[in-house]
Amino acid sequence: MQIDLPIATVAFIGGYCVRLFRSRRQGRPAAGADRAAPEPGLAPEPFRWPGDVIEPLPCPMLLIDRQGALIHANLAVREMFGDAVPALLRHPVLDDTLSRIEGVEIVTATVRMDVPVARVVRVSIRALPNFGPDLLVLALADHSQQEAVERMRADFIANASHELRTPLASLIGFIDTLLGPAADDWQAQRRFLAIMQAQAARMRRLIDNLMSLSRIQLMEHERPRARVELAPVIATVTDGFEPLVAGRQVALRLDMPASLPPVRGDGDQIAQVLQNLLDNALKYASREIVVSARPVQGGAWPAAPGVVLSVRDDGPGIAEHHLPRLTERFYRVEDGQAGRAGSGLGLAIVKHIVGRHAGRLLVESIPGQGSLFSVWLPAALS
Ligand SMILES: Nc1ncnc2c1ncn2[C@@H]1O[C@H](COP(=O)(O)OP(=O)(O)OP(=O)(O)O)[C@@H](O)[C@H]1O
Ligand SMILES: [Mg+2]
Repeated sequence: MQIDLPIATVAFIGGYCVRLFRSRRQGRPAAGADRAAPEPGLAPEPFRWPGDVIEPLPCPMLLIDRQGALIHANLAVREMFGDAVPALLRHPVLDDTLSRIEGVEIVTATVRMDVPVARVVRVSIRALPNFGPDLLVLALADHSQQEAVERMRADFIANASHELRTPLASLIGFIDTLLGPAADDWQAQRRFLAIMQAQAARMRRLIDNLMSLSRIQLMEHERPRARVELAPVIATVTDGFEPLVAGRQVALRLDMPASLPPVRGDGDQIAQVLQNLLDNALKYASREIVVSARPVQGGAWPAAPGVVLSVRDDGPGIAEHHLPRLTERFYRVEDGQAGRAGSGLGLAIVKHIVGRHAGRLLVESIPGQGSLFSVWLPAALS
């Protein structure tokens, strides 16, 4: 079938398509006449329908009839949606939308598909009455990723507000009590003020972690370039832990060679990684924490020379099914034990810092025996 299709027919699909469509036609000197103003004496080039029109366009497009039967799927649809087209055409939302199409208005629908993979497809539909009473053209856009990002952002805000609201509610409760029933009870006042101090510290820690995470994410694409000697970084961080370790009656042991190659990175951020890993180890260790560093190359680690910095504890360990999720923001394995509270941001920060360094993070754990968190960082070769 040959149909002479005016440019206006595809104009609704979007400026991008139309521009490409026009430039493609303008690129053909023999047929270069614009439909709106054909050159005198030149007959407009006939289009072969539908292949010539939608086939080469970069937007995924379909031609169907009003019953939803496929007439043509262009190359972009075949590449981007592959075997999802039959499921899309059978989808009840699309079916319902087709039954509502009248005239030449563009109608849009959002189709959420579960098969062959979960996907959100935005479909814009228009009838083409000039070319057939039943003919419809569909432009498809995959919104799956956009929706996932929006959902993550919403979850993040909900989690952050929830984490802040709990200590804030407790603070407000204690302030009310101090102003009311406990106004003259100095013993209660001292007790409540200590709890309020801890809750305020929790809020400050959460805000510090959130700020830290967003700063790291902002600079994540800039690879840190400094040469960092690990020994002084490890010494500074572990020294800071001495009083905490002594308070919990846990031994902190260092296991590293006399000399280590410097790594390529950001010293403060590497210190933050160790700080967060030690912070966790301290919450869970029963008797001992071992911090180690050793040069590695290949094997389980990248082929380039590097250094593995690790923190091992002999705590309760982590069940295997939790391991892949530990670095998600706000993810915590609740065990209900006092002294192990946290916001679930420490390992997310570690992950992003390691990512910025083009490093690796490996978590190994045997429930009942302990956990080992290892971070590979690239050696500074020059
Ligand atoms: N050494 C460990 N042993 C056992 N479980 C651990 C260990 N390290 C982390 N986890 C588990 O991983 C979860 C996430 O750790 P992460 O450091 O991200 O958060 P957090 O310590 O709970 O809070 P934050 O670090 O923000 O104060 C912890 O809640 C805990 O359940
Ligand atoms: Mg932590």
